[in-house]
Amino acid sequence: MSVTESSGVAVRNVRIGLLGFGGVGQAVARAVETSRRRMAEAGVDLHCVVALVRDDTRPREASSVLLTSDVDVWRRQGVDVVVEVLGGIEPARTLVAQALASGIPVVTANKSLVAAYGPALQALAAEHGTSLYFEASVLAGVPCVNTLARRPLASGAGAWAGIVNGTSHFITTEMTRGRSFDDALVDAVARGYAEPSSDADTSGRDAAEKLTILLHLAGHADVVAGELPRRGITDLQPWHLSLAHRLAGVIKPVALADTGTSGGAWVGPAFVPLSHPFAQVQGVTNILSVGRGDTAVLFSGPGAGPAVTAATVLDDVVEAAVAAPGRRARPVLAPASSHPVADRLRTPRAGAWFLTLDRATASAGDVAEFLAAHHLPAVAMVGEGERRGLVTAPAPFGSLASAVDALEATGVVVAWWPVLEVNRV
Ligand SMILES: NC(=O)c1ccc[n+]([C@@H]2O[C@H](COP(=O)([O-])OP(=O)(O)OC[C@H]3O[C@@H](n4cnc5c(N)ncnc54)[C@H](OP(=O)(O)O)[C@@H]3O)[C@@H](O)[C@H]2O)c1
Repeated sequence: MSVTESSGVAVRNVRIGLLGFGGVGQAVARAVETSRRRMAEAGVDLHCVVALVRDDTRPREASSVLLTSDVDVWRRQGVDVVVEVLGGIEPARTLVAQALASGIPVVTANKSLVAAYGPALQALAAEHGTSLYFEASVLAGVPCVNTLARRPLASGAGAWAGIVNGTSHFITTEMTRGRSFDDALVDAVARGYAEPSSDADTSGRDAAEKLTILLHLAGHADVVAGELPRRGITDLQPWHLSLAHRLAGVIKPVALADTGTSGGAWVGPAFVPLSHPFAQVQGVTNILSVGRGDTAVLFSGPGAGPAVTAATVLDDVVEAAVAAPGRRARPVLAPASSHPVADRLRTPRAGAWFLTLDRATASAGDVAEFLAAHHLPAVAMVGEGERRGLVTAPAPFGSLASAVDALEATGVVVAWWPVLEVNRV
């Protein structure tokens, strides 16, 4: 990294090597050009010198970035900061590890990589006196990760709740307006929110990875994204949402974790009371609450999109560039002995539940009596024909599971989701 002087201010010339030149990679290259003046004020002059791609013959927008599919050519360019926007695990993991092991800081937006290998890559970075930055991997346009990473007490508050996937949030918001899942998904693809293959969004995998990254930041390094209880939004039907509405709630795709002794986790649709702050958030907007009750802190804003992601990536590049060489730019929490927490988070957390019943021929009173006898009292119920929607009193997941089994044994078709309590964000 060379240093020149502009108007008496030392400016570092920073050579960026991009791994990937797709939606986000190209947006990073554009943002480098459009933010040049602001970056000079921040003391850096950024240059995207090379990008690794799969197919370097494919025509792209005009750019001075050298495109190559040859890793050796990419490596020979000698860069100061690596920006990884390939996606997926390999070759991203190997290339990021090689850069860190050479003492080169890496900025990534790749949540799959950070959720699976973040703690190991951070440890490798620390060993070689450099850093891994991943602000854009969670709530891409909202600067929350670096804030939490620097604040052991704020990040370790023990409770997280968020709407962290814009695509599934857009789809459920549209379904609240009466559209079918398929129709809303087609619209999400047409607007560029969802990829034609949107399984990671609609299955909850993307949200589970983001929640895992937040839990790792709090020191719970043993949490594995694939072990969190998770349900996709693909089974949601408009009548589920309409019954929720009659019970003064909306269905939203959330990610929750509570590391307390009666805690647990959930990634998937949940019943959100209309009086809850999350009910006011619509479309592709993300929101994250860290902490409990009155002491919870809220972050909210755009969660995705190449332009907002690129801006966050570049802010990380600046942080990497101005960090003193050989010094870690921020603390890396020593992984706590987190096996008990990871075990706890494999089960849905205790709380109130929203149930929908189909083919329920018994009266509302009989259904309520049946549930009470199975330790799952209903506190509100609405219905039309053989379909009912109800909210229960708080109960452990075990009580819910056995009551649902008993109901289904009578021929009723049951679907269930957790309720986000207003006083327990
Ligand atoms: N899009 C968003 O709004 C957003 C927001 C936050 C985070 N992210 C994350 O940012 C990352 C990139 O997303 P994106 O939307 O930019 O993806 P994308 O459009 O699919 O771009 C991926 C890029 O990586 C290259 N690539 C993939 N595998 C490769 C391989 N094995 N060898 C060489 N090059 C390879 C591709 O090359 P070709 O161009 O030749 O195919 C392409 O240039 C992902 O981890 C994503 O989760 C995206």
